[in-house]
This record gives sequence, structure tokens and C-alpha cells, in this order.
Amino acid sequence: MRFRLIPLIFLVCFSSLPANATPQPNPAARTAEAEITAKVQALLARMTLSEKIGQLNFPSLAFPFEAQLAEVRQGRVGNMLNVVNPDHLKAFKEAAAASRLKVPMLFAIDAIHAFRITFPVPIAWAATWNPPLAERAAEAIATETAQNGINLTFAPMIDISRDPRWGRVIEGAGEDPFLGAAFAAARVKGYRAGGLATSAKHFVGYGAPEGGRDYNGAQISDAELFDRYLPPFQAAIAAGSETIMASFNTVNGVPVTANRPLITDVLKERLGFPGLVMSDFVAITELINHGVADDLADAARKALHAGIDLDMASGAYARTLEAGVADGRVATAEIDAAVRRVLAVKYRMGLFPDSPVGVRTRASPMAESDVRTRAREVARESFVLLKNDGAALPIAPQSGTVALIGAAALSTNDHSWYGPAGLTKPATETLRAALEARVGSGQKLLFAEAFADPCGLSFKNKDEAIATAKAADLIVLALSEDCTFSGEGTSRVDLGLSGVQGELFDALAELGKPLVLVIETGRPLAIEEVAAKASAVLIAWHPGTEGRTALAEILAGAIAPSGKLPMTFPRSVGQIPIAYNDLPTSRPAKGDRYTTGYIDEPWTPLYPFGHGLSYTTFAYSGLGLSAPDMTRNGRIEVRVDVTNTGSRAGQEVVQLYTRQLVAERSRPVRELKGFEKISLAPGTRRTVRFWLNARDLAYHDDEGRPVIEPGTFRLFVGGSSAAELAGSFEITE
Ligand code: NOJ
Repeated sequence: MRFRLIPLIFLVCFSSLPANATPQPNPAARTAEAEITAKVQALLARMTLSEKIGQLNFPSLAFPFEAQLAEVRQGRVGNMLNVVNPDHLKAFKEAAAASRLKVPMLFAIDAIHAFRITFPVPIAWAATWNPPLAERAAEAIATETAQNGINLTFAPMIDISRDPRWGRVIEGAGEDPFLGAAFAAARVKGYRAGGLATSAKHFVGYGAPEGGRDYNGAQISDAELFDRYLPPFQAAIAAGSETIMASFNTVNGVPVTANRPLITDVLKERLGFPGLVMSDFVAITELINHGVADDLADAARKALHAGIDLDMASGAYARTLEAGVADGRVATAEIDAAVRRVLAVKYRMGLFPDSPVGVRTRASPMAESDVRTRAREVARESFVLLKNDGAALPIAPQSGTVALIGAAALSTNDHSWYGPAGLTKPATETLRAALEARVGSGQKLLFAEAFADPCGLSFKNKDEAIATAKAADLIVLALSEDCTFSGEGTSRVDLGLSGVQGELFDALAELGKPLVLVIETGRPLAIEEVAAKASAVLIAWHPGTEGRTALAEILAGAIAPSGKLPMTFPRSVGQIPIAYNDLPTSRPAKGDRYTTGYIDEPWTPLYPFGHGLSYTTFAYSGLGLSAPDMTRNGRIEVRVDVTNTGSRAGQEVVQLYTRQLVAERSRPVRELKGFEKISLAPGTRRTVRFWLNARDLAYHDDEGRPVIEPGTFRLFVGGSSAAELAGSFEITE
């Protein structure tokens, strides 16, 4: 990487970065920052080396915690993670207040999609294509968390990933940098509005592990880094994320935790990130496993030099830096630089009694009913209807008798795997109860559990399930990806239905009745054969506390589905990695031999990025541009008429894609450049307008510099990445 060689050129180009680039602070913020800098400097000057290192120390709560309390009092521990119990938090706050310099502590947990009320998993937030909903969700979660006394969340996870084998796609916004940046900004804003500082993670490339194997290395060219993986981080920085977490993995062979070109040169200097960078959990110690450090002292020295300010849970800084300074291997200036960042963040968060006023706003408590409303809103808009032949959904009086099959319909599992333990679980409706309350009166709803567990790992009573289905006119089969298959350390090679769910599906499909498949999942699945036989497929993600209620509203037709895929659904695992925004190649894919694809399967995905049906239909027409061309500083307005051509109200996500036809680098066949979610009554039409700025069409060269190249662009507008309505424009010199 040559990032350090080009600072001047970069500065020239920086002004043409997309709108999500780091904004210049306004005058009031600049004054507050100057005040913070002075206060930090004064405090630093009073600190002993041991107290400084204490500020970089970020251990996890360990029972019994009396020893940790003592270290806080001595100024040797400045921050803690996983302290959730309010009494414990109080004890640690008092210990910090009893320390010589009384520096307040960071208290962090993984409040990702839950504190007490569980929201749908984050990939479902992205499936809403409605960032303001994500902002409201994050605000509610943060409010619950902050009221408990915690001040920092390890969220949002904003890793772009094109590989659903990687279990952590559940925590992100999918495969696209534009959508990812929009949700990164919304989530940061929301958590902060709710009173938490954020930790955007994982910087960088954690979502691109080779083979989809968690923690595995990523190979990322510099151009790709800037085009694909950095935009969400730029957006998070612009939205004010106070902290960023470094990723576990290597990028091009160097672990990010010891990667100065990435952490210091790119993140802190080029992207202008003013906050603190923390390691991931025990990641500094793991530099030894990576084979780039001899021992803990070497690992600590390398991480600090790379620009890792906070040592999460490895104790490497606490145990080795003082000796490193004594023997001259660790520069005090590097420790001071890290401490300055930590203290500045604490001032910006308003933790010190003399923090400049107005740096942070604090939310007041939110009633549980409001939190639930927000969770329901996200769930409602997140479900993606992949297929709906013969209008199998919604369930209507004419659907006749309905058989709801599957133990998932009895589940209240909310998948809050990162939610703090020990809180009372909120009341959660099952799908069965929710649906019983919502199908029309007089309409029969039969039920069979079929499986011994919600994820269908084994049968409880297969025959009863088949008999129940036989007695019905419409079958709704509720399935779930294995509940242990989501999140960290859950890479998979098989993305089919887990356990014996496929076996029951086949038996039910043979009955020849309309068969609706509802699947809870944390990732795209490879379900080509199943989808071909089902009449309808509804992806419900893991929908959280209010999720099954929202699901019943959708199935019973009270609300029309409006989710769209934030990640491509492959036909098979062999197609992975697969994304809509690939390069055209020398022989663009078209299904023939000697073109890019496979000889044993179509090259197209099962369902493309952006796809999702409603109970109504939408037509696109009247594509128009305000001008046929623009300069490199210019912009063009794109407008399109969208008509609800069905017989009921619905929401549509209007999507705008571009393609640069000829450039110095091969450019993706499509790139998302705008989207808007609209509501339309039946028979009505709305003109949707997008501004396309030339600077948003920049790509990055081998040194990560943005380039806006003159030339012809195609644009496509529609309801998915396969949109057909097309136009053209030019960027002129
Ligand atoms: C490891 C995960 O990678 C990270 O995302 C999480 O925030 C930390 N553990 C802390 O729990």
C-alpha cells in the first residue's frame, strides 16, 4: 500500500469525495473541539505513565470483580466491557470517582439489535431499504441501554459482504456500499440520539474472508478497498461515530490490528477519523497466532504503533507497555497519542463534568410500548416476498382452510444472541397465536408442530403434519435456519434448509396444494429447488420480539410486504461469492459456453439484489433527465413515474443504478446510486426524483484516489437490480 506517498494529491481530490465523506465541523463544534484539545492536554500532563496506560486498558468483566475495582481505583483500568448489572456499573463508576484523576470510564456492550426488546437482526433492517426506520430502531435500543448506565455500543457492524457462507452477514447491511453507507449513517445517528457512543466495525475487510470462513484473511486491492469497503466507514465517521473497532483478519497478509497503513494512514489520516480505534476482543494477543508477533510485548508494541488506541480484553498494553517504555522499545509519544484520543472521546461523549456543553444530547426514557412499536415497524418492512405464484398470499377468505405447519410457529426465540443476559424476557407472541388472532373469522386455521425443535433438526410427528396439510386448502410451512447458525463463528458450506425441514417440504409439495414457505434466516440461503416447488416464499429473517406479530399481519394481508434483498440469493453455494455489481469480464455472462458463468448451472442468481414483491404491482415509465450531460462538478436530476397498477396500497423501493460504459478501469455492470421507498394507493402515480452528482460516480484508482472520468453512463431505474427501464447521460470534460 502506498497511501503515505500521496497526501497532497489526496487533499486535492478529497473535495470530490462522495457526500458521505467527513464533513468540516461547524464553528461551534470547532470551538468545542479546541476546548476539548486544551482540556485533554492539561489532563494528560498530570498523568503518570501507569494512569495513561490504564486509559488504554479495556478489560471484560470477570467475576469476582473486586480485583478489577481495585485496578480502577488505582487508575490502571480506564474502561470496561460487559458490565450490565446496574449495581455493578455503580460500583465501577464509584471506583473511577475514587481514583486520583477521576477519569470517567467507557462502559460498552454489544447492544446491536437488542437491549431488552429485541429488534429484527440488522440484515433485516437493511431489507427495509428505509434508513429512517433503522435510525429509529437504533435510537430505541440505545435509549434502553443508556438508561441502564452503559455509554458505548459495539455497533453498528458495517462490513460489506458478498459471501453468505459468512455467518456475520446477519449483523450488516449486505453486499452494496451505497446501501451499506446509508444504513451505517442511520444506525450511528440513531444510537447516538439514544445516548450511546458507537463503535463502527470492523475496520476493514472482515466481511471479505476467503471462503467465507470467519476470521480468515481477505485479499483486497486498494481500488476495491476505497470503492467497496470504505464507504460505510466514511458514512459512519461523517455521522459522528466516536470509535471504530479494528477487525481480526489480515488484509493482503497483514493483520489489521498491526496494520499501520490501514489504521493510521487510511483511517486516521486520509479519512480524517478523529475518534479512537479499539482492537477487537483479545485481538492484540492473537497477533501471536497470526505469526506477526513473538510475544505479548511485541504484539502490544506493534498494535500501538499501528494506531490501536484501546486494547480490548487482551491486557497486552497493561502488562507490557510500561516495561516497553523503560527499555526504549515503546515510544511515549505513541502512548500519549492514544491517550489523547481516548480522553477526547470521553469529553465528546460528555462524560466529564466539565465537558463542553452541548457536545452530546441525551435521550429521555422511552416507554416499552414505544420501543415495541419501533421494533414492529422494522419487522413489518423487512420481510421479503421472493415469490408469490397464483397470489397464494395473502391469506384470504377464498384461501379456504389453512394449515400452519412447523415448530417455528411456536417459537419465541428472538435471537438476541448479543443481548445482555439476565434481563427478563419481554412477552413475545408466537406466529401461531398471532395468526390465529388475524385470519378471518369463520376461516379455519389448523396447526401441526411437525418438528421437535423450531429449526427442524428432527421430527416430532411428520405424519400428523402431512395429514393436517391434506385437510387444508392452503399450506403455510414455517421454517427456520438452525438457531445456532447465526452470528460470529458460524460459517457454513451448506446453505440449504437445515435438519429434516427439506424432507417435510418435499412431502408437502407432493400434495399439489398452494404451499407458502416462511423462512426465518440470518443470511441468504441457496434454496433453488425448494423455491421452484413452493407457491410463495417469504423471507422473515430473525424478526425479534414483535416479529411474529408483524409476520402474521403480513401473511393475513393487513400489510403488504415491502422488503427488498440487501444481498443476492444464490442458486447454489458453488455460485458464491455472488453479487449484482460484478465487472463485465472479457466475455460477459449470458448463459453460453465460453462466457463468464458455469456449464452446470445458469449464471444468474436465484433472486437478485434489490428484489422483493408486494401484494400489489408497480409499473415504471417516463424516465427523464434534466440534461443529457454534466461536467465533473455537475449534477443531473433523474425522474421516473411509478404507478401502483394493482388493487391495493403498497410500498415500493425505487432503485437507481448506473454503469460507466468505458473507463480506464473496468467498471461494474451496475452500481446502486439512489433509492427511495414510497407508498402508493392503488391506481395512483408518483414522480420520483433523484439527484445524480458527478462526484458520486467517481471510482478509485490504484492509490485510492477518486477519479471522475468523462464518458457515457447508462442508467437503470426499477424495483430491483435487474431493472429494465434505461437511459443514458454523459460526463463531459
Ligand atoms: C468479538 C466481535 O468480533 C465483536 O464484534 C464484538 O463487539 C466483540 N467480540 C465484543 O463482544
